[in-house]
Amino acid sequence: MQKLEMIYEGKAKKVYRTDNPDYFWVEYKDDATAFNGQKKGTIDNKGIINNKVSAVFFQLLESKGISTHFVELVSDREMIVKALQIIKVEVVVRNIVAGSLAKRIGLPEGTILPRTVLEYYYKDDALGDPLINASHIAALELATPEQMEFIKETALKVNEIMREYLAPVNIDLIDYKLEFGTHKGQVLLGDEISPDTCRFWDKTTGEKLDKDRFRRDLGNVEGAYREVLRRLTGE
Ligand code: TMP
Repeated sequence: MQKLEMIYEGKAKKVYRTDNPDYFWVEYKDDATAFNGQKKGTIDNKGIINNKVSAVFFQLLESKGISTHFVELVSDREMIVKALQIIKVEVVVRNIVAGSLAKRIGLPEGTILPRTVLEYYYKDDALGDPLINASHIAALELATPEQMEFIKETALKVNEIMREYLAPVNIDLIDYKLEFGTHKGQVLLGDEISPDTCRFWDKTTGEKLDKDRFRRDLGNVEGAYREVLRRLTGE
């Protein structure tokens, strides 16, 4: 497959067309942003680590029957994915209170939730990705109710699979964000699954192994990302 011109550049990735219209070529960047782009920086080797970590999770999920856009890795920081039409809904799943949920409902970070919390955000930078509900999604026609039912079920299955996978490497999955898109009429899990889009805490020490180290200036950001990759692959 041939990498052709760039068709989209996001905050963390570049997407290229290929000579096959069914596939995109994705390049993971070292650029990091937070707070809707207000804070900017770079994390050395982040693109390489997130590309590899995402591939591990996509392959794991595929092996458990979840359909994703992942096709194959093509270099340290590039993967081939199925061409998706992105659904403009960010799906956040939470097991333990952290980040914006702590502020929204007034519980301290680290509180174990008695039930998994599922949230939807409207993927719109100009609006700052506001929290929305299923009724807003229907009114904006971002996805059909049937698609949202499938997305909800898939997001919760991903939770079970990832928690079970991360437990033996001593990582708690606090929360994460997923994105979905359609490919030939089918809804597939897209985007990335990495320390940029998940909160990973060491089970024993509670140490943060994710982008909160960058958001909150905690130091050793690259080391934390590397540690996640090391625990997943031994690399
Ligand atoms: P939050 O607590 O800031 O709402 O974040 C919830 C989860 O979603 C956390 O794992 C980080 C992830 N996330 C993204 O992947 N992209 C984003 O733009 C935001 C705000 C959060």
